[in-house]
Amino acid sequence: GTQGPLKGRHALVTSGPTHEPIDPVRYIANRSSGKQGHAIAAALLQAGARVTLVSGPTHEPAPAGVTLVPIETAAEMMAACQAALPADVAVCAAAVADWRVATPSGQKIKKGAGGPPALALAENPDILATLSAVGPNRPALVVGFAAETEDVVAHAQAKRARKGCDWILANDVSPGTQAFGGDSNILHLITAEAASTWPRLSKPDIGTRLAGAIAAHFNKD
Ligand code: C5P
Repeated sequence: GTQGPLKGRHALVTSGPTHEPIDPVRYIANRSSGKQGHAIAAALLQAGARVTLVSGPTHEPAPAGVTLVPIETAAEMMAACQAALPADVAVCAAAVADWRVATPSGQKIKKGAGGPPALALAENPDILATLSAVGPNRPALVVGFAAETEDVVAHAQAKRARKGCDWILANDVSPGTQAFGGDSNILHLITAEAASTWPRLSKPDIGTRLAGAIAAHFNKD
């Protein structure tokens, strides 16, 4: 959209899982529907921002009007995010694989007498931490997610500091909360100043509420 409180702002959103190849037909992935990241992209667009959505493979359609950059691996997601800068705000909602296979095989690995292959793993870049690092291209506002099973707010505050981001949206994913793959969530918004708990909201409503908080942040003075 071209009207709305985020008119003239560029928002970068990551969404979905990453796929890390083992060989040409196999990969390691994280569970992620992309529902929340895509809903955030739609809400930021609705609020008037120009939106770049860097997404791993999902079944979610890209909201009409966003610039979709489809990627598969964490390394590709990192490069696509850096290429999308500068941005006023970055929201990292992707479930990035923490590790990739260090040396993916160029050929399909055969089953056989040698037994199962040993996969050496290498650590992936932390996209949220990299975008949060101080530099000329750092978005003015960087938002990450945290999934916790206990001491949700305290752990999320520690994660905010560790990653160097501005805000963390923390959710309780302990068994029985139905956060994963569900359509609604209870989130805590952690900033440098405060922690506030949102009521249970649908993923689209979480997107709208986050876009509203972002718009209020940019329009506060
Ligand atoms: O460290 P953890 O995976 O719990 O952090 C979650 C947050 O960090 C999410 O916002 C996720 O999108 C982001 N992240 C990232 N790159 C990684 C790992 C996590 O951007 N390699």
